[in-house]
Amino acid sequence: MMRNTNIVEEVALLASNMYRLGWDERNGGNISCMVDESDISDFVNTERVIRRIPFNCDFGELAGRLFVVTGTGSYFKNMERDPEKNIGIVRLCENNRELELLWGYSDGGRPTSELYAHLMTHAVRLKRDEAHRVVIHTHATNTLAMTYTHTLDEREFTRTLWRMCTECIVVFPDGVSVLPWMLCGTDEIGRETAKKMQDTRIVVWAQHGIFGAGRTLDEAFGLIETVEKAAEIYIKTLPAEKIINTITDEQLKELAKAFGVKVHEGWLQ
Ligand code: 13P
Ligand code: ZN
Repeated sequence: MMRNTNIVEEVALLASNMYRLGWDERNGGNISCMVDESDISDFVNTERVIRRIPFNCDFGELAGRLFVVTGTGSYFKNMERDPEKNIGIVRLCENNRELELLWGYSDGGRPTSELYAHLMTHAVRLKRDEAHRVVIHTHATNTLAMTYTHTLDEREFTRTLWRMCTECIVVFPDGVSVLPWMLCGTDEIGRETAKKMQDTRIVVWAQHGIFGAGRTLDEAFGLIETVEKAAEIYIKTLPAEKIINTITDEQLKELAKAFGVKVHEGWLQ
């Protein structure tokens, strides 16, 4: 029988697992899980709001819902050791544009910078399947590598993955969607991801990573794991082929500007 763990411990365990797979370097990746009060009532008093976190978003039908969410900047490597610092539980305010922190982010942190993409995805997936609960974003290594050597055409990308392992088409018959390189942490990438999530539970972000959705942590993870395994076979059997897609200097400059970092003088064109 599985050890009895609460949902925060489950998220932390998954983060450790994903870290060990090499997908979540530093603070790469984020996890969110929609929960019911009964899932957290053993350790959270939902009447007590620790603090309010402004968040400029119309929550629509998600208003009032509770989410376990990894914190921005938190290292997957450390989630299990200190879940209360690296993970939070928030309620989306009924009147919108604010999150009520009920547990976690104990060092003053806040949810992942990809929260908008997570919430937009939750809203879309819930409409498709009322049992939907989980969104995972990760920098799955081989899937990412594949976006450098394979056409980003969704049909072709999916067909290649389906052919790599016999059971792929059984696990993700809906296929995968692919977004071209876009600036991460923005509302735009969130909206585009959610649009794609109407048809597929996997969205690949070219030169960045992958988004997966499912009813449980296991299901969302299993989906990503299967895509990643297929991508690994693809990369391993690839003849020496030229990279056909890349992150351009213009896009690197856009990143530097958006995140306010000073790039080594003269190293970008
Ligand atoms: P966060 O640390 O804000 O979760 O961002 C990590 C990431 O992977 C961004 O795409
Ligand atoms: Zn990322």
